[in-house]
Amino acid sequence: MNAVDLGALAADIAREAGELARRRRAEGVSLAATKSTLADIVTEADREVEQLIRERLRTERPEDGFLGEETGAEQGKSGLTWVVDPIDGTVNYAYGIGAYSVSIAVVEGEPAPEKWQGVAAAVSAPGLGELFTAVCGEGAWFDGIRLAVNTETPAGALLGTGFGYDPATHDGDLAMVRRVMTIARDLRRMGSAAIDLSYVAAGRLDGFFERGLNPWDFAAGAILVQEAGGRVSRLELDAPRPMLIAGGPAVYEQLHTIISGDSAGA
Ligand code: IPD
Repeated sequence: MNAVDLGALAADIAREAGELARRRRAEGVSLAATKSTLADIVTEADREVEQLIRERLRTERPEDGFLGEETGAEQGKSGLTWVVDPIDGTVNYAYGIGAYSVSIAVVEGEPAPEKWQGVAAAVSAPGLGELFTAVCGEGAWFDGIRLAVNTETPAGALLGTGFGYDPATHDGDLAMVRRVMTIARDLRRMGSAAIDLSYVAAGRLDGFFERGLNPWDFAAGAILVQEAGGRVSRLELDAPRPMLIAGGPAVYEQLHTIISGDSAGA
């Protein structure tokens, strides 16, 4: 399979998995467990959706590796790894807010974000009826339209961000918001980093920043932004919680300057 075929497979699986997530939500999700904090809710649907994705990949790409939020890592033999968040935005999902997504990236090389190279990505937001796709070298797409990040922000940047679920990190994250607001027109905290990054790719946001994201939260979204002409990087401000920044080239530079000038905070 070439990158285009892998992208088509990612999109097909994301669509199917998104439909399962949406159906389970409509049937009424049952809260299954808690993770690091009370707010970090994992639902039965989360696990079931990852299971579906994993099984489809086992059948269609048995040699590839897998890195998923719920079931962890499995080394492959092909050099490709699928990086999967079955439901990104689980709190929205649990509360019945439509901004949740299935995020699927296929990457090449060592399965670590600093080392891998993106191949293709799909982010399905079934609660919004939207699917974003990208193939490296071929561009990013939504509804048949090729995506491009915003390059001009004459009235200031519309920025997205997110906060970790651990209350101990909130003061530091809020201090960062205060600094970044100097370049902002306004700020959105939508609750799914994969959707935030898709929106940067689509020009619905000018930039995005968040500390402490996991690889499956941003793997697909980062590919979308890059394929839409934007820039993405992860700054190791405080090692356990690197800061992801993304945006059109100008906003990316502004975010980088502001954020890398501040290494204080949790
Ligand atoms: C979360 C979402 C959220 C972000 C959190 C992530 P999850 O992912 O992406 O927007 O602010 O940091 O953990 O837990 O819902 O898959």
